[in-house]
Amino acid sequence: MKFLKLFALLFVFQVQAQQGGMWIPSLLDGMNAKEMQALGMKMSIKDIYDVNSSSLKDAVPHFNGGCTSEVISPKGLLLTNHHCGYGQIQAHSSVENDYLADGFWAYKMEDELPNENLEVTFIVKIEDVTKQILEGVAVLPNESDKQAKIQQNISALSNSFPKEKYQENKIRTFFEGNQYMLFVTETYSDVRLVGAPPTSIGKFGSDTDNWVWPRHTGDFSLFRIYADKNNQPAKYSKDNVPYTPKHFLPISLDGVAEDDFTLVFGYPGKTSEYLPAVAIEQIVNELNPTKIEIRDRVLKVTDGFMRKDKAIKIQYAAKYASTANYYKKWIGESQGLQKSNAAGVKKAQEKVFQEKLIKAGKETEYGSLLADFDTNYKAIAPYAIARDYFSEIVLRNVELLKTTYKFVQLEQIYKNKGEQSFTDRKNNLASGLGEFYKDFNKKVDEKIFEQVIEMYAKQSPQQFLPVSLKNANATQLTADVYGKSKLTTFEGVKEILSGDTKSILKKLNSDPAFKLVKDLSASYFNEVAPKYDELNMKITALQRDYMKAQLELGTNDRIFPDANSTLRVTYGQVKSYAPKDAVLYEPVTYLEGVMEKYIPGDYEFDVPTKLVDLYKAKDYGQYAQNGKMPVNFIGTNHTTGGNSGSPAIDANGNLIGLNFDRVWEGTMSDIYYDPSICRNIMVDARYILFIIDKYAGATNIISELKLVHPKTGKSMKKKDLKKK
Ligand code: ARG
Ligand code: ASP
Repeated sequence: MKFLKLFALLFVFQVQAQQGGMWIPSLLDGMNAKEMQALGMKMSIKDIYDVNSSSLKDAVPHFNGGCTSEVISPKGLLLTNHHCGYGQIQAHSSVENDYLADGFWAYKMEDELPNENLEVTFIVKIEDVTKQILEGVAVLPNESDKQAKIQQNISALSNSFPKEKYQENKIRTFFEGNQYMLFVTETYSDVRLVGAPPTSIGKFGSDTDNWVWPRHTGDFSLFRIYADKNNQPAKYSKDNVPYTPKHFLPISLDGVAEDDFTLVFGYPGKTSEYLPAVAIEQIVNELNPTKIEIRDRVLKVTDGFMRKDKAIKIQYAAKYASTANYYKKWIGESQGLQKSNAAGVKKAQEKVFQEKLIKAGKETEYGSLLADFDTNYKAIAPYAIARDYFSEIVLRNVELLKTTYKFVQLEQIYKNKGEQSFTDRKNNLASGLGEFYKDFNKKVDEKIFEQVIEMYAKQSPQQFLPVSLKNANATQLTADVYGKSKLTTFEGVKEILSGDTKSILKKLNSDPAFKLVKDLSASYFNEVAPKYDELNMKITALQRDYMKAQLELGTNDRIFPDANSTLRVTYGQVKSYAPKDAVLYEPVTYLEGVMEKYIPGDYEFDVPTKLVDLYKAKDYGQYAQNGKMPVNFIGTNHTTGGNSGSPAIDANGNLIGLNFDRVWEGTMSDIYYDPSICRNIMVDARYILFIIDKYAGATNIISELKLVHPKTGKSMKKKDLKKK
């Protein structure tokens, strides 16, 4: 009995141990390699990352700093998400050519659309440079000297490390200052739009389905990298030629089945996997609820107006989506952290940590860490909450306050930098704000203000409130600000900004919106920010020591560095999940599900007629599986924001899907990864091909690709087989 129990425990541990983690591609040998092979991987580690010959990493560039993309043809064709290319698609759209509504397809290369401010960055090489960066640091007496020395070492090595002229060296820290890696990179800035499905495919389900499984979104778009005649990075020129990649991903037509191995390669932005229990409790009980309630009020008001007024819907759709994205994520995150008892699990780990520490005789070094966490996290709480109020309400969600804050800064510029800087900034504001006011609706913003300012006055930490807000009546204040402020219209702004500096500042200082924002900013920057920064610095130092201790004590052999926007590998399997009692979610969705959700004319769930027709005719070409068209699938890959557009790769190195989201119950994976409910969501590669081929008729794109049958071996050419 006892033995059985132990065995069961071991088994659970083993199965769980194979999941989660965002790993550095140059360090996969050993434990990761074994796990990946156990999960079914057929490639070697060198197929994933190799400096001396081409490997998967050569096909996976960072997309404009925030998303991931992958090269899928020998002519530099690039695949990423629709929501990653959204800005570019929108920028090329007009009333006559509405590419968001109708989609865009270049049927020949001349039709591809150049983009300003769009670049992709490849990783050429990754080197561990910890030793060089920490050289001469330990002997220094205090923290600020240490940091200065580290910075000095970083810039020296960045300058001296060998690279080509058209490459760059970037050094990033891992494990919170305990490891340093150097990246040699190549950045291409002539990247052109090749194709995008209509929003009713690329953003199907919109906010309602966002973060949710079952999902049915064709969230993809296509670009092409152009290079100069030597295949090197070059600014846009019509003489540039399609980039020839060192590697591109073949695309599998064989699809996925439950338990198939998957690898997701990309640039995850930020995670906090090593927080102590006290920090997690603070997120769940204090920080998330505050931000959620503020955004809940904002979204309810906006939605009410959007539903009644078409013009407002257009003005506010993008803003609504962006506010709703993290609102929804935080709700899922809090529920997930509670459901999986993340804080409880961490407490148990902390107990083990403390015991190990004593056994290893490291009590003097690390013995007070956990107690110090406790003290400092408790001390920072009111400051952190006040900070969230200020940034959510003043800097983000009330547009009048956000804009007015720019004028408060303008006055600061005058005080700190003088007349010339003031005039430059003033002219900037006068020309730049026109765009903003086009999409600003005073009625909407006024209602939002009334809702959130009441919360600010009554519920935020009272000790940091200026008198003007503390004693205010929300209704009265709203009427005053929106009734009298000149900053609610662009005309008003121009009027305020006319005249000499003195008169401008005088006009501003008698404006009720300006007075309020100036008051709120003053109390934030005097009462909150300095103390917050001081405590936060202490916490950062504690987190670094906590990480160092865990690395030294070897409490966890699957310890991986938190995401920091550098290239990582995560792997897992295609897997169903059970979010609650008696509910089991299958891992693959089909076009049938799109039709089930179809609401003709709806802005979230409309379906293009052509797609309905293809569905009715079951005209799926070579892309169907058993007569059905797969759309999305989920897996146990550990991803986060920034992984959007990441390739999902099969056991042999072929593209099987395109990552774009996570399931709602598992969004807590940024803080605590629980393999039983954390899933990433991918578009099935065959759905992408089907849309390009059958929906758009862009056979020119299909003919560039290398389509393979790794499972069935069907129609695979001999030379492909040999390569595998
Ligand atoms: N939740 C996904 C990610 O953070 C997709 C967001 C875009 N889609 C949307 N409906 N807003 O970023
Ligand atoms: N949707 C996210 C992104 O845009 C991915 C995620 O958070 O899972 O990067």
